[in-house]
Amino acid sequence: MKNIVLIGFMGSGKSTIAALLAAETGLPIFDLDQEIVKAIGMPITEYFASNGEEAFRKIESQKLAEALQTEGIIATGGGIIVAEDNRPLLQQHPTVVYLQTEPTQLVTRIRQDTRNQRPLADDKTDAEILQLLQGRVHHYEESASWIIDTTEKDPRVIVAEILAKVGKL
Ligand code: S3P
Repeated sequence: MKNIVLIGFMGSGKSTIAALLAAETGLPIFDLDQEIVKAIGMPITEYFASNGEEAFRKIESQKLAEALQTEGIIATGGGIIVAEDNRPLLQQHPTVVYLQTEPTQLVTRIRQDTRNQRPLADDKTDAEILQLLQGRVHHYEESASWIIDTTEKDPRVIVAEILAKVGKL
């Protein structure tokens, strides 16, 4: 299966890197958040408010299973490692890349990004976001085939590093 799965916290650059990887490899993008929005027919923030996080996670898990069978560049949502069942799936998948980023840079990027609404960040303090990150870091690490540090790095350099790890697709 030709795919690369990007995981990482909100603001780690998954969508940006997915777009560049797609351009570089000619593979299509499979964006999990976009697939979920299509399935639920409303923005994620609205779905969180009306149905709750657990219902969101169930749909997210279904979409992940689908995505892992898909040829392309798979951009996941930052909470993909929250559902316990998703972690072994990712661990067993050979091309999972964790985009690791320095915590304060993540908070800065989340705050600067006005295009994406994020129910688990928008009404949180910086300290709460950092706490959420802290509880997730080891799950990203244990789920990844490779860890790529993205802090202060040009996206093109990150893409080159990923392709060097993954090899020829
Ligand atoms: C989430 C991250 C979001 C989106 C949802 C939940 C999370 O994706 O899936 O708001 O739990 O970290 P991004 O990482 O693309 O912002």
